[in-house]
Amino acid sequence: MKKKIGVKILGTGSYFPEKVLTNLDLEKIVDTSDEWISARTGIKERRVSEKNEPTSELAFRASVEAFKFANILPKQVDMIIVATITPDMFFPSTACFLQRKLNIPSVPAFDLSASCSGFIYGISVAKAFIESGLYKKILLVGADELTKITDWTDRNTCVLFGDGAGAMVLSASHENDDILSVFLGADGSYSNLLFLPAGGTFNPATVDTVNERLHTVKMYGKEVFRVAVPKMVFAAEKALEFSGKKLEDVKLFIPHQANMRIIMAVAKKIGISIDKVFVNIHKTGNVSSATTITALDEAIKSGRLKSGDIVELVAFGGGFTWGASVIRI
Ligand code: UT7
Repeated sequence: MKKKIGVKILGTGSYFPEKVLTNLDLEKIVDTSDEWISARTGIKERRVSEKNEPTSELAFRASVEAFKFANILPKQVDMIIVATITPDMFFPSTACFLQRKLNIPSVPAFDLSASCSGFIYGISVAKAFIESGLYKKILLVGADELTKITDWTDRNTCVLFGDGAGAMVLSASHENDDILSVFLGADGSYSNLLFLPAGGTFNPATVDTVNERLHTVKMYGKEVFRVAVPKMVFAAEKALEFSGKKLEDVKLFIPHQANMRIIMAVAKKIGISIDKVFVNIHKTGNVSSATTITALDEAIKSGRLKSGDIVELVAFGGGFTWGASVIRI
């Protein structure tokens, strides 16, 4: 019988822009306080990209790190996937811009849109392509610049977001199978709670849409919070069940970094102790598609994880979308 093709994680990388925006800086922009932001979200500061630093640039820098770690050359990958909701342009895809920056010859490259769950969706797509035997080495990136679609007059949202990118190189393997499970979900009936109203075909850009700030994120935070917790718990429990592992086997739980109170509530409901939960929201804010992969990269590079450890990633975002994945690093 033909042996099943497994997936090996060859390496990870991440990149955050240099510029730091603290809560104290935000106090000067909108009616807010470090005290409110810290207590309600856990965020202390976030990174903000420059005007001439598009999403593909962050993706490029994270990818270079991942290739270094994986000890392979960019030209060795045969597919590029970028999970993002803040592409450089509507088209071509950010994956194509990244391909150009990495000087990778003609391999398929495309973007994937699943909001903050984008990287987990990407893991699922990369796993399926590799297991199918069609592709052998995939560069998967989660990259977003939400600060470029933020309404800096809206204190309900502008304190929450940051920019960043994370990358993972995955390879076909006959010895390893590092993606133990993936579970995905979505419910479009919630699409009116977290969205960007204009600029698409529903509401094309006009002077009015710009003046009305309709090219920025709109969110009904309380409602999002209410759905996020049970969906993240459900996804995490399903992915764990499908992986055949027990909660005790999980060395580190890496949740989407949107709000410290969401992270605590999810951890409590799953029954995992907070010392096994990775948190970096205080210094990154919500970096959307990039949260789980940048956190994973930091956990690996800081020595918190070692080879062979079991990790669970879980995310939730606009759509709504959600997903979780149990992996071995
Ligand atoms: O990544 C995708 C998923 N996104 C999320 O998971 C985000 C989910 N939602 C949240 O994290 C929270 O709902 C927020 C952090 C967005 C808001 O926290 P909250 O505890 O739900 O606050 P709230 O929206 O109910 O607002 C409470 C009060 C309001 O004042 P009143 O009406 O009670 O007088 C707001 O106007 O806090 C006020 N407020 C602020 N005050 C100071 C809202 N934003 C701010 C602010 N600074 N930045």
